[in-house]
Formats: sequence, structure tokens, C-alpha cells
Amino acid sequence: MRTAMAFTLRSLTPLGIFCMVPLLSRCESTAQLDAHSEDDAGGEGGAQEGGSTGGDDGDSETETPTSPVEGEFPVAAVAGPAPTPPMGWNSWNKLGCGRISASRVREAADAMVDSGMREAGYQFINIDDCWSTEERTEEGLLATDSKKFPDGIRVVADYVHEKGLKIGIYSDRGNTTCARRMASRGNEVLDAKTFADWGIDYLKYDNCDYVSDDSNGHNLDEDLMRTEFGLMSEALKESGRDIVYSVCAWRFYEWAVPLGSLWRTTNDITDEWSSIGPIIEKNGVELAAYAGPNQWNDPDMLEVGNGGMTSEEYRTHFGMWAMMSAPLIAGNDLSQMDQETIDILTNKEVIAVDQDLLAVQGVRVKKEGTTSVWVKPLGEFGARAVALLNQGNDVQDISFTLRDANLTGSSAKVRDLWRKSSLDDMKSDFTARVAPHSMLMLKLVGHEPELPSGNVQLSAMDWVYAANANGPVEKNQANGSNAADDGDRISLDGTEYETGLGVAPGSLLMYRLGKKCDRFRADAGVDDQVGDSGSVAFQVIGDDKVLYQSDVVTGADAPLELNVDVTGIYRLKLRVTNGMDGNLKDIASWANARLRCED
Ligand code: GAL
Repeated sequence: MRTAMAFTLRSLTPLGIFCMVPLLSRCESTAQLDAHSEDDAGGEGGAQEGGSTGGDDGDSETETPTSPVEGEFPVAAVAGPAPTPPMGWNSWNKLGCGRISASRVREAADAMVDSGMREAGYQFINIDDCWSTEERTEEGLLATDSKKFPDGIRVVADYVHEKGLKIGIYSDRGNTTCARRMASRGNEVLDAKTFADWGIDYLKYDNCDYVSDDSNGHNLDEDLMRTEFGLMSEALKESGRDIVYSVCAWRFYEWAVPLGSLWRTTNDITDEWSSIGPIIEKNGVELAAYAGPNQWNDPDMLEVGNGGMTSEEYRTHFGMWAMMSAPLIAGNDLSQMDQETIDILTNKEVIAVDQDLLAVQGVRVKKEGTTSVWVKPLGEFGARAVALLNQGNDVQDISFTLRDANLTGSSAKVRDLWRKSSLDDMKSDFTARVAPHSMLMLKLVGHEPELPSGNVQLSAMDWVYAANANGPVEKNQANGSNAADDGDRISLDGTEYETGLGVAPGSLLMYRLGKKCDRFRADAGVDDQVGDSGSVAFQVIGDDKVLYQSDVVTGADAPLELNVDVTGIYRLKLRVTNGMDGNLKDIASWANARLRCED
């Protein structure tokens, strides 16, 4: 594995610059170095090559500041097959079609335990394409390739289960899989039953549907795809076993959301840095609003440890997948990992960001050239993960403010999650120098926005979280294009509104109510800005329960008059989706959106 120089530098206090890594000539003062380092245990000393995290595993988490409203933001795991993004290993990225075998799958299970990955949260051992033959058995069942899996799949499944792990398998909605093995079209119920009989816990269902034997083209008719992915979704529900359903349609389709626990949002990842940026752009910017418990965007499996990127690039890849609440499915040879790969894949503080029970996907709050700042609120009171990402080829200073992280107050505790070390408290802003292709990943613990009181407009409140497909959510104006403050007056079916929120679906907003409110009201609809075209659906969610779900409404419809009981709710989520019509460029408004709360 190649390694890159990584160095980060923290600055911006009135006193000057604080250095995290004693590498840069600008970081000269030992007093300054001492000033910000509280509980580092060797992480920085070992950071010169690839920003190694040092051996600080047992380090304590950032303390939560004492707060009179502590506990008003409790989160709990939601029931279902994938309350947090699935974690595991899949055979494809490393073994492909040729090298998959029962012994390699067992080896991966052994290594998942021995390397500490199971302990870090990884669960699934997933067999990808090429476990089956090109024909069905005489009984019409999927047939296992006996050269690769001489004792069948059930024996391997038992082995994996005995290790305290779960097992996944692969099939396809078409006649054949992508590697032209037998697939499940027309046999969905039977195959789901077979998988359940074998003890399968996870199915990745692919999208290949070759138009002919000698062409690599596929029939991607959307109605057909939707129907066929749906058939397997139903079949799994009827199979008698809880099986996580991973829809692999190579890009995001809204109809996949109710079908699967996760859905691929992009084409296949490759083991090179140039593959990472476009995936982040698609999965991270446009689709964040769709993520939540049991519904995850899947930017594809990990390449960490496969050799085509530097350690620093792998850290960035893994860290950004965690920021995006992505499934963490390792794709390397687990039996041949060097320590650095293990350290990346098992960094518990980074994994905790991915697995956080608040279960919202991080969003990009700032972009300047090739640098960006990403924020993901966490379940712990006042906590945010913040990523400072440098995708460019030069060292860059990257800054953010407490406001960017939707925190109030004038300071926050800061912890560097890759180095596993606490830094000085930040004041209103923070700057770091970030190496090329690198990220600084922080956990902040600061002050949540105030709870609402009395009758209050949402546009007068601070949100905890805002995901929007195009530019920022606008207050008291419609969502224009991707710049801030660029919308017209909110207008629904000819009526103009002074107040409200303008969004570009998929959009998801989250506010703290702290059990203080009993009513949420709004007029909601497609904004007149897009005329009669456009179709969206509105969802009001209280503590992960759907309190209100609209039908699809179009620009020609009168606004919905929402009046939702939010009694006893800690946090309110408002989601707008795109009406399942494949058009992801709608504009919607929550007009006159208001809460009735205790004084
Ligand atoms: C692709 C899929 C890959 C892998 C491969 C197997 O369609 O995106 O992740 O499963 O098929 O043939």
C-alpha cells in the first residue's frame, strides 16, 4: 500500500496557530503544541506517514457539557432489519468471479473475528456473484457451483453463524446474473424460500438483464425494474426469515426506498482515488434526505486495503462513507490485512459516526473549490461529526463555524477522530490545514439550538439538520437554485405567503421540540415557481415515527393543510420526496409552517 504525507493544522484563536502535527515549519512553539493537547496518547507522534491514528484505542470519548436540558434528545434503535447501516464484508471487490470459494468465505469469517472487525461492529459475510451455476436443479432450485462450494451454501452459512456473524448472498432480477449465472426472474418466491432455508440474512439483488447473449446491454425499463425488485422484496418478506434486502440498481430510484433496506446510488466503485469524488458528489449531496433507519443510500462497497489508493485516500474514503451513513461493507482480503488497513476499518470513533442512532446522513454545508465541510448531527446531546475534506492536489486551509454545524453558544469541545485525540475547545470558528486527498474528521460537543416556546414559525427557529437536493433550504422564500437567498416569495396555488421554508426535494429538516409542543401546522405543496409541473410527497416524522404521510401532490393541486399532533415528540423531521416520477428537480414549500408550544 502506498502512503501519503498527511498533516493537519488547527488554527484561529486570537493567540495564533495551533499545530496538531509537529511537521510543519509554521508550528514552532511547544507551548502552542501543549496548549491544545489533552489526552493524546502518541497519536500525533506516529502521524507523519499517512496520519496514523496511533495506539489510542481505549481513549475516552469527548465529555458532554453539563446542560440543564441534557437528555431532551434521546435516541434509540428503531426496529427493523437495518436500524443502522449494515456492516460487513463482500467477496466481489477482491475476489471477483474467479476466486470466490467456500474456503475463502470461511477465511473471511475467521479474519473478521481475529482482526477485531466483528468486535468493531462488522456482521455480514456476503457472497457476491458466481456462487451458482448457469442452470437450475431438476427441482427448479438455484444450483450451487460445486467446484467452488463443494458442500453447498448451508454448510458455509452454518460456519459463519457459529462465528457469531451473519451471511449474505447475491442474485439478480433478470434471467441471469451479471456474470451470466442463473438468476431469480420468475422464481422470486422459490429463491427467497431457498435463501431462508439456507439461513441467509442478507440478499444483494442485482440489475443485470442482458438484451442478448452477445451484448452487454441491459433492459433498464424502469417499470420492469420496479416490478421485479418489488417481487423479490415481497418474496423476502414472505420467506419466514429476516433478510436485509440490498437493491443494486446502480443509481438511485425513489421507488427503491420502500422496497429495500439499502439501495445502490452509483455505478461500481473502483480501487482508485478518481472513483471516490463522483460517488461522494452523487450520494452525498443530492440524496442525503432519503437516508434514515432501515433506509440507507449505498455508495458501494469499500476498497480500503485493496492497494490502489494511498492510506490517506483510504482513510478519506472510509471517513466519508461514515459521514454519509453508508453501509460499511469491506471489499478487501481480510486474511491479508496490514495493521494500517485494520486500523482504518476498525476505528471505533469513526464507525460510531456511521452507526449513530440519530440516523441522519451527513450533509455538505460548505464548498470552496476542491474543499468542503460536511456535518452530521449525532444522537449525543449537542454532538456533531464534522469532516473537513480536501479533494484537491494541494494542501488547503479549511474553515467552518459553529453556525455551520448548527450549534449555538460560543464554544464546543473538539475531538479528532482519526487521531483519537481531544483538541482545545473551539470558539466560534475553526480552521485546519488539510493535506491533499485527505480529511480531518472531528466530533464536536457543543450547544443545541434553543427549544421553541409559544407559537413560533419554523423559519424563526434554528434547525439541527437540513438536507436539500439543491442549495440551502430557504427561510421565508421559495427554494430558488443552488445559491443561498435566491428564491421568489413562497406561493402555493396562487396564494403568496410571508413565512415558511423553501426546499428542493429530497429534503429533510430536523428540529428539536423537547416534548414542548403539541401542534405542527403548515400549508404544503409544490411551489408556484415551477408552475403546474412538479410532483412531491410530504412526510412529518416524530422521533422516527411517521406522523403524517401525504399522497403525491402536483403543482396543479391545492396546498395541503397540515395539522399534525406532535405531543410528546423530542425531535421533528420534515421530509419532502420527489413523487416517484423520476424527476428529482422539484421545488416545494412548507408555507406558514408553525408550532404551538409551551411558553
Ligand atoms: C455488478 C454490481 C457489483 C457486483 C457485480 C457482480 O452489477 O454492481 O457490485 O455485484 O455486478 O457481477
